Amino acid sequence: MKKRSSLIRLLISVAATTVFASDTRNGGQNTDYVIVGGGPAGLVLAERLSRDGTSSIVLLEAGPRDFNATLLNTPALFPFIADPLWNFTGQPDENLAGNSVQIPQGRVAGGGTAVNGMAYCRGAASVYDEWASISGNEGLAWNSLLQDFLEVSHYAETASVSGDQKQIVNRTVYGRGKAGVEVSRSSIMVGYEELFSQTAQSELGLHEVDMNDGTGIGVDRGLLSIYARNHSRSYSGNVYRPSIEVRPNVHILYNAWVSHIGFDGNRAVNVTYHQQSGNREDSAVTLRGSEIILSAGAINSPKLLMLSGIGPRAELERHNIPVIADRPEIGSNLHDHALSVMLYNAAPELLTVWQWTENSTETVIAKEQYASNSSGPLGTGNGFVYATFRVPDSAFAGLDAIHYTTLPTDRPHVLIQVTSIPLLAGVNSSAVTAWASLVQPEGVGRVGLHSSDYRDNPVIETNFYGSDADKAAILWGYKKLREVMGHSALQTILPGEIYPGANVTTDEDVWKAIQAQTFSYRHPIGTVALGTALGSDWRLRGLEGIRVVDSSTFPFPTTCHPQSAVYALANRAAKDILKSDKGSRGTMRYVSNLFSWAGYN
Ligand SMILES: Cc1cc2nc3c(=O)[nH]c(=O)nc-3n(C[C@H](O)[C@H](O)[C@H](O)COP(=O)(O)OP(=O)(O)OC[C@H]3O[C@@H](n4cnc5c(N)ncnc54)[C@H](O)[C@@H]3O)c2cc1C
Ligand SMILES: *[C@@H]1O[C@H](CO)[C@@H](O)[C@H](O)[C@H]1NC(C)=O
Ligand SMILES: *[C@@H]1O[C@H](CO)[C@@H](O)[C@H](O)[C@H]1NC(C)=O
Ligand SMILES: *[C@@H]1O[C@H](CO)[C@@H](O)[C@H](O)[C@H]1NC(C)=O
Ligand SMILES: *[C@@H]1O[C@H](CO)[C@@H](O)[C@H](O)[C@H]1NC(C)=O
Ligand SMILES: *[C@@H]1O[C@H](CO)[C@@H](O)[C@H](O)[C@H]1NC(C)=O
Ligand SMILES: *[C@@H]1O[C@H](CO)[C@@H](O)[C@H](O)[C@H]1NC(C)=O
Ligand SMILES: *[C@@H]1O[C@H](CO)[C@@H](O)[C@H](O)[C@H]1NC(C)=O
Ligand SMILES: *[C@@H]1O[C@H](CO)[C@@H](O)[C@H](O)[C@H]1NC(C)=O
Ligand SMILES: *[C@@H]1O[C@H](CO)[C@@H](O)[C@H](O)[C@H]1NC(C)=O
Repeated sequence: MKKRSSLIRLLISVAATTVFASDTRNGGQNTDYVIVGGGPAGLVLAERLSRDGTSSIVLLEAGPRDFNATLLNTPALFPFIADPLWNFTGQPDENLAGNSVQIPQGRVAGGGTAVNGMAYCRGAASVYDEWASISGNEGLAWNSLLQDFLEVSHYAETASVSGDQKQIVNRTVYGRGKAGVEVSRSSIMVGYEELFSQTAQSELGLHEVDMNDGTGIGVDRGLLSIYARNHSRSYSGNVYRPSIEVRPNVHILYNAWVSHIGFDGNRAVNVTYHQQSGNREDSAVTLRGSEIILSAGAINSPKLLMLSGIGPRAELERHNIPVIADRPEIGSNLHDHALSVMLYNAAPELLTVWQWTENSTETVIAKEQYASNSSGPLGTGNGFVYATFRVPDSAFAGLDAIHYTTLPTDRPHVLIQVTSIPLLAGVNSSAVTAWASLVQPEGVGRVGLHSSDYRDNPVIETNFYGSDADKAAILWGYKKLREVMGHSALQTILPGEIYPGANVTTDEDVWKAIQAQTFSYRHPIGTVALGTALGSDWRLRGLEGIRVVDSSTFPFPTTCHPQSAVYALANRAAKDILKSDKGSRGTMRYVSNLFSWAGYN
């Protein structure tokens, strides 16, 4: 039975490839929606737009369908995923004393959600309200978007593991259905979680909250996109893909790298991709689509637009790309959450990542526990606990800090997080990493092109800590984190700071330590933003037949981890698209067929 259905699937996908390819050659039938990118945004869109069976959809994903099942499904192994990734690196950043950061992104069905740290967090409600006013799309306001959060997630208890029941869960903000990513409490097993939470509360005047109910500031012990029952990754690949794979009106093509979007005047009409198998790359195939939806993520969406002639004129002309539309805002407004780390020695009783990878006794126990009943450290997110807070106005004395001082009061400036992943190289002993991150930074970066060759990685200018107020905020936040970690309560189990180290005391030296060990959280957003690049209908302004729906459309970041918002936003966009295209699709198909008859293809 199993064999047969996979054979049928194979035949369908082979047929899909040939049928669509020859369709293009004879300039015939259009696909209603061609979606570029099968991350959370692309998969949610494909599911929602295909649900009633009336639209035909092709989804093109550059990466494979899946990868090593152990690495993909076992939550604690996510830091060891080295492939399939887009290996992006930022330019040397002068704010980081010339260091450059790595910004890998998921390159597989599920996109980032197949490789990410699974932290599930929505953050401050006022972020979404401001997105609504910037975009002119009232559906993005917290009170409306909550409906979408309900539709794309549900909560389940981890019954088999004790000790993790303390995280507050506001059950009204999770959906009831089976569909949607499953959110569960983190299994508290590393051993510092309780002490970190208590210390952060007392040192920062916070209390524990559920950061998924619109609350921005507080302590969260980590709600994660992990199946409660078997402690395996719950992500857009295993939630959305199975239901769309069996629909005859959807075709997903894997290893299909889109290199160009073709325009007839102002209207996007086709998409060219390169199917890769092993080391072989087939020649280009072009598909026509009534509507092209770009969901390639915050680095690849602006890159593909620029390759297709949509972007800043100077950038396009530098690479001899014919300009379809001069759009300075494409690729600008890059935000990320930069994070600056500290490292602490861990007492032997803490079950850090080092213990279950380097201590052979613990390695055996951990594997046994996970295999027998999915318990133990392998089924968790490596001890994520985080807290968010504001930087007091006094920290900005003498600086232009309007960006910070005028943020709505539910918004934190800084997020501190602790994890047992040993983030700094060269330390072979049990250690715990902590970091401070600016979650509403002022400075913005940019994505540009290295060349007109689609295979080249783009230029990424991070501009982390890009304003004086950003520098003051991270300095204050980093020092505050150090106070929390250095508190006598935590020092009983985290004896001794490895980084930055006891000799680092002056603000000048702390700033240098920050510059030397700053990483990307891998949360890029904002490069094809609503309100500037996009209208309230998700269309690129001034162009037809092309929409963008993914993390690149966030006008600015959420106050914590972004995946939850990508799912909700895509769900909302799909409903908006269905509403606006109803009735007009017939006309669109007619118009594009007219073009083919007239010999445009
Ligand atoms: C290592 C890592 C850890 C993270 N940790 C967390 C976390 O703990 N919690 C959290 O909330 N968020 C986390 N994130 C961020 C989160 O995963 C992303 O915000 C989210 O996946 C973005 O969704 P997206 O659909 O916009 O883009 P993506 O997830 O990047 O998906 C885009 C998809 O498009 C495909 N694609 C790109 N270009 C092309 C092309 N030209 N042709 C065809 N296909 C293309 C890509 O292969 C990819 O599959 C993490 C991300 C990474 C990379
Ligand atoms: C998958 O990854 C696991 C964990 O790293 C490794 O032990 C195993 O050998 C890998 N399997 C394959 C088929 O590569
Ligand atoms: C990214 O790097 C990894 C590890 O070096 C490698 O296996 C993978 O093929 C690279 N990915 C791409 C798209 O080049
Ligand atoms: C739960 O979340 C809802 C929606 O934001 C909010 O109205 C309610 O006050 C929250 N409940 C608690 C107990 O915090
Ligand atoms: C874990 O359970 C979920 C939900 O029942 C299921 O979809 C998933 O395949 C399971 N994961 C593994 C690795 O068995
Ligand atoms: C894609 O569309 C453009 C604009 O109509 C056209 O010039 C180009 O030839 C098309 N590409 C293919 C391969 O059909
Ligand atoms: C390795 O694990 C064992 C068993 O838990 C423990 O007794 C020992 O202290 C650990 N070794 C180190 C170096 O932490
Ligand atoms: C899970 O398995 C481990 C190791 O086999 C065992 O020690 C533990 O008691 C089991 N837990 C539950 C809840 O069954
Ligand atoms: C770390 O040290 C242990 C012994 O304590 C050794 O077995 C292991 O190989 C070392 N790992 C690395 C990566 O050097
Ligand atoms: C602190 O000591 C470390 C290790 O000896 C050294 O690398 C670093 O430069 C010192 N930093 C300062 C500010 O003195």
